[in-house]
Order: sequence, then C-alpha cells, then structure tokens
Amino acid sequence: MSLMFASPVVTPTVGAFTFSSRRSNYIVMSAVRSNSTSLCPVLTKFQKDCATPTPYLREVANAIADDMRAGLAVEGGGDLDMILSYVDALPSGNEEGLFYALDLGGTNFRVRSVQLGGEKERVVATESEQISIPHKLMIGTSEELFGFIATKLASFVAKEKPGRFRLEQGKERELGFTFSFPVKQTSIDSGTLIKWTKGFNVSGMEGKNVVACLNEAMAVHGLDMRVSALVNDGVGTLAGAKYWDEDVMVGVILGTGTNACYVEQKRVIPKLQSKSSSGTTIINTEWGGFSKILPRTIFDREMDEKSLNPGEHLYEKMISGMYLGEIVRRVLLQMCETTDLFGPFVPVKLSTPFALRTEHLCKIQEDKTDDLQIVGSVLYDILEVEASLEARRRVVEVCDTVIKRGGRLAGAGIVALLQKIEKDTKRMGSGKRTVVAMDGALYEKYPQYREYMQDALVELLGHKLASYVAIKHTKDVSGLGAALLAATNSIY
Ligand code: BGC
Repeated sequence: MSLMFASPVVTPTVGAFTFSSRRSNYIVMSAVRSNSTSLCPVLTKFQKDCATPTPYLREVANAIADDMRAGLAVEGGGDLDMILSYVDALPSGNEEGLFYALDLGGTNFRVRSVQLGGEKERVVATESEQISIPHKLMIGTSEELFGFIATKLASFVAKEKPGRFRLEQGKERELGFTFSFPVKQTSIDSGTLIKWTKGFNVSGMEGKNVVACLNEAMAVHGLDMRVSALVNDGVGTLAGAKYWDEDVMVGVILGTGTNACYVEQKRVIPKLQSKSSSGTTIINTEWGGFSKILPRTIFDREMDEKSLNPGEHLYEKMISGMYLGEIVRRVLLQMCETTDLFGPFVPVKLSTPFALRTEHLCKIQEDKTDDLQIVGSVLYDILEVEASLEARRRVVEVCDTVIKRGGRLAGAGIVALLQKIEKDTKRMGSGKRTVVAMDGALYEKYPQYREYMQDALVELLGHKLASYVAIKHTKDVSGLGAALLAATNSIY
C-alpha cells in the first residue's frame, strides 16, 4: 500500500477557501462553521454497531483463544485452521551459504538472494527485487501465474553478481517459498492450497501442491533451483525476526490481508500425530478465518457477499488493509442516499467498488487543519465531490469508526495469542520480555490504527503484563526468514 498523492497547496480566503488539486483549481464554500456534526442516523447507528468496549473485546479475545484450542485439537475443529508449519527448528544463526526467497501474497511478489555467513558474519549480502503481478494473472490459470514468476526469478538470478553471491560447486540453488495464503502443509517443502484470499482466484489450484506448481514452472524455464521450505509470511516474519531477537514469539501481518503465527509447545497440540511431543513448533493460525461474535454491520455483510470469497475470512475483512476503505465507501454511499451529505446527488465515483482505499482513509485521518482541507482534497480527487466542512467532519468520523474497530479487534487477536502462550509457558508472569514481530503496510503506515491496537492490548492485558510485551515493526523480514528456513532445511 503506498500513499500516493501529495498535499494540495492551500490558500485560505474569508468564508471560503481555494486550493489547487492535481486536476484543477476550485473553490469550496465552507459556510458551515459549527464544530458539531448534526444528526445523521446512518452514522449514529454505524458507530453504535461498531462499538468495541473493553468487556466485549475481552469476549472476542476469549472466543479467538477457544477457536485456537479447538483447531489444535482436531483438523477443522474451529474457525482458525491452526496449521502445522513443520518449522520445528528455528534458525540458529549458524546458517551459511547462498539461499533465495520468493514472496507471493499480494499484488507484488518479491525475490531475494541472501548470502549467509554463519554466527559471526550473519547476513553478508542480500539483494531483492519487487515485481508487480498483472491483475489478469491473479485470476488466470496456475500455469500463467507460476510461468510469470519463474521467468522473473530466472532473470533475477541471471543478474546476480558472482563476487557478492557464491553458490558452492555441485549444489543446486535452494529457495524458501513464502506463499501467503492458507495452505495445508504436508511437510516443510510441500502443501496444498486450501483457498484463495485477498482478491486472488487462480483457477484449478485449490487442493493442488503449490510447491509442485512452482518447481514445474522453474524446470520449464530451465532454472536450476528447488524449493526447500514452504512458509507462510507470518511464519517467515517470525523466523526472520527471531534470527535477530530470541524473545520473538509471535509474527503478525497487518497488510492487505492479515495473519498471526506463534511458537507453540508441541505437548499442547493434540492433533500432532508425531511420536515426539517435546519441544516447540510454529503454528500458522490463519486467524483471518475467525467469524464468531464479530460486530458485523450491514456494510460488512454486503461487502462480504460481493467478495471473491463470500462467507470466509470475516475477521480479515474487518481488520485488514484490503477492506477498510471499501467499508467506509459503503457507509458514505448510504449516507449520501439518505441525506444530502455531498449535495442532492450521489457521486458516481462513490458507487464504484473499492474506489476508496485504506491509504485514502489514512490521508484523511492525518489532516490536522481546522477546516479539514486535506480531507476536502482527497474527496475531490478520489470521489470527485466538493464537500462542505460538515460533510468532511462526518467522513472523518466514518473513517475513525472503521479504523478504531479494526485496530481494537486486531489488538484482541494479539491478546488471545499472548494469553495462550502465557498459559503454557508463564514467560511474561516471570518477567520475561515477549516480542510480537509485526509487518504489513496497514500497521506501518496508519498511526491511528496502531494506537487503537495498542490501547486494546493494554486494556485487555493490564499494564503489568503489557509492560513485558514489545510490538516490534520488522519490515520485510519474511524474505530473510524464508531464506533462513531454506538453509535450515537444506538437503545438503
Ligand atoms: C492469508 C494468510 C496470509 C495473510 C497475510 C491472508 O489472506 O490467508 O495466509 O498470511 O493474508 O498476507
């Protein structure tokens, strides 16, 4: 998610203000000077329906924790898949050699090479490239998608500088494949796609081994490389962050989609059919699938019905970046239809699904000017409406309501994980620092969302326990994590 538009140059005048937008100069009459937003039943009801007071949030955290336990007991036991990642051994720091990472999970994919130098030197060299995925490939065939990826991967390898990156003679290149969709792992280097999320819908792939798809495409393109580890981005984030900080116990993604992975004690995983029940493993919760007691409004329901995966990933649809702008758009549309929010007509752009994106909400909430000039320019640029000051205030309220609900619900999810970890390890109770490694553009770029999330964490955990928890922003660390897991699971 990138913040894409520059602030307009503002020249205030008396009773009205002029500003230049990217498209034109225009005047907005700001006759309304009152600070109070007059009654708007749609907004009032929406705010009421989205409320997340502490006792209710606690119930949400408990319900998530219950589903975590149910999912650990038996496959499909609860809303959360609680996927066994087969990552039992986390990187030790001693890894050496050249490894690659491929990160597929959004509108871009990223390839990375990492030269590891062992305990002392750690990451000797690393290089990466981000490639955007044409939208038609996100809803095309698996051959098209993986063929495209293999071609780009091959040209990345071809550009490699031999001085910086050294592949030992006789060894095949090894890759950690971060595939950020729900996958039923069958081993560390194989797994079948359960379902697509985040607007992907590549045909015929559900139930297929995603590693086989990539290996085949690499072979077709003559690329001498094999997948040694298949990891979720949450798992990659946890592994990459733990490489630098031993206290990392949780990896959370708050971006286009959302997920959380954590270090679990094998002895408390009844569905683990392995003889050894000692030690730890990483669980990929796929918490986006949580669906119980959520404060869903008519707008959430309608957005879900129109989505590519109706009825699924309902928690994700309330807390992650792909959906928050769209919820706001739907609320504003109904406000326009029932009041003269932006004048007598409903703006055409407001009827376009996903016209308003989360990055626009962020820009709107950043506005600290008295007469909300930036809000005005966003509304003009994106929705082509000239909004009165009162209308701009209402828009801010809608954004804040959606962001507050999202941030607080995300906080409740993190608390559910922390409490589960605490119950089995008593680490915070004994004063041990516990780190949540966090990645994703929503968390990174939306300060209000972050604050609401943090507030919920403290409210639910209490100040004492919360003081042992550190939320650490670990940007783009999942690629390193995947390369490290390729090293840990190397066939050589
Ligand atoms: C997927 C997860 C992924 C998350 C963040 C969700 O839609 O189901 O597997 O980790 O997005 O990328």
